[in-house]
Amino acid sequence: MRKNIVAGNWKMNTTVPEGVKLASEVNAALEGITPKCDVVIGVPFTHLTAVKAVIGEKLGLSAENCADKAKGAYTGEVSAAMVASTGATYVILGHSERRQYYGETAATLKDKVALALENGLCPIFCIGEVLEERENGTYFDVIKAQIVESLFDLSAEDFGKIVLAYEPVWAIGTGKTATADQAQEIHAFIRGLIAEKYGNQVADDTTILYGGSCKPSNAKELFEKPDVDGGLIGGAALDAASFMGIVTAF
Ligand code: PGA
Repeated sequence: MRKNIVAGNWKMNTTVPEGVKLASEVNAALEGITPKCDVVIGVPFTHLTAVKAVIGEKLGLSAENCADKAKGAYTGEVSAAMVASTGATYVILGHSERRQYYGETAATLKDKVALALENGLCPIFCIGEVLEERENGTYFDVIKAQIVESLFDLSAEDFGKIVLAYEPVWAIGTGKTATADQAQEIHAFIRGLIAEKYGNQVADDTTILYGGSCKPSNAKELFEKPDVDGGLIGGAALDAASFMGIVTAF
């Protein structure tokens, strides 16, 4: 069964004490309600253990990246096994900021996805086009290539463990959200690609999140679309009330 998920992506924000406070606030807000979606927070590596200690079962924990190597002499890297050992169960992979600023390629991401799965982590795999690709109409091809190159060598069983996040790069942190119809168009396209490759059941069961300037005021309209199964939330996840405003949009 397809799950609805609202996941926060804190990016490189908050110190550990600030992050623990924010996580505690989200956790406390969740205690009082029964959300119609799974709720996850994606936090910096440094925060994982401390945040895990202050959250309950209702709040999932994610890293924002992991290494493309299992272990060894890779100074400064953090492995999927290390992430899993903190109690985190998700990892955001292929975020456009990682692709753009840190040169992550389809091949690197394929290795990261494999290691995440081997270590029992659920990858939240991000895809999305830049403005130029939106404007010149190549965005379907771009998104297809991102999915095919990093994910379509997986078995159907492994593919079924992945969450996708469509994040048009022109909508990230810009305040310029894709319209609900634009999101639905791409989400339906992605689900169609999955159906062609893995069959209707796997496609139906895959959670596809939307990300890019999602906020309480536009979340409901986005989440009402049949193929939009939740959101990956950047800026609005840094305030417990606005994040919860998105969670309760379901
Ligand atoms: P934003 O970021 O909500 O601040 O646009 C979303 C993301 O990058 O995951």
